[in-house]
Amino acid sequence: MSAISTVLITGCSSGFGLETAQLFLDKGWHVVATMRTPREGLLPRSDRLRLLALDVTDADSIQRCVTEAGPIDALVNNAGVGLLAPVEGTGLSTVREIFETNTFGTMAMTRAVLPQFRQRRAGVVVNVTSSVTLKPLPLLAVYTSSKAAVNAFTECLALELEPFQVRARLVLPGRAPSTNFGDNARPHMEASAHQAYADFTQSVFAAVRNTATPVTYAQDVSQAVWRAVTDPHAPMRIAAGADAAALMQN
Ligand SMILES: NC(=O)c1ccc[n+]([C@@H]2O[C@H](COP(=O)([O-])OP(=O)(O)OC[C@H]3O[C@@H](n4cnc5c(N)ncnc54)[C@H](OP(=O)(O)O)[C@@H]3O)[C@@H](O)[C@H]2O)c1
Repeated sequence: MSAISTVLITGCSSGFGLETAQLFLDKGWHVVATMRTPREGLLPRSDRLRLLALDVTDADSIQRCVTEAGPIDALVNNAGVGLLAPVEGTGLSTVREIFETNTFGTMAMTRAVLPQFRQRRAGVVVNVTSSVTLKPLPLLAVYTSSKAAVNAFTECLALELEPFQVRARLVLPGRAPSTNFGDNARPHMEASAHQAYADFTQSVFAAVRNTATPVTYAQDVSQAVWRAVTDPHAPMRIAAGADAAALMQN
């Protein structure tokens, strides 16, 4: 990696993406912080910061963003949406929306940067999935499968990129109630509620809201992404957060 490196991060309007953009800026990197609706003022002004519009579900938006960004050294696929809902209540259009962002958006962004990485024989793709992929949990069938697919995608991809000195890594965060994740998931969850599962759903929600157990902080994730990007010897899967680390050890 050159002395002055550039990272492109998806989903920087809040949470892990915003924190990761801040960390890379603090470390002296050039940062292309992407958001569906770019907003000034979320990150401090810097001549090393560019804000670009990007919706990972939109092929034209991806093409425009990657072209405008120019050469980059690292891609962090962080954009994602949650869903905690019973399968029976979740229409296929919702399933598709979750996969469009979490799974196909990640794959599309990865494909968009691979030519430059391969030609330069350098670069790293870091995909942010989730520690829920380490253990089956109720009401998470759709969300977990959208992220587990990214785990499999990334692990296979890493092998085919090795001959070109291009790396791919995974960051698996635990539960982080401090981000906008729950609020952003709410519209899909309300649309996917099912009367027969109402009591069960309430008990699961109560467990999810419990803050007495260890949780993950945005800084845990930004540090894990930093390691994945900058340490060539970082493991394939990096847990982020105390709860994720405990799950990974089991
Ligand atoms: N919080 C948790 O408990 C948790 C745990 C494990 C893993 N994760 C994963 O960590 C990542 C970040 O989550 P977070 O907790 O930081 O949640 P967050 O605060 O909701 O941030 C998610 C980001 O993704 C963006 N996004 C959503 N759809 C997009 C699209 N189609 N194109 C581009 N950007 C899009 C959102 O932008 P807008 O402002 O445009 O909506 C937002 O910036 C996600 O992939 C999530 O699945 C979260």
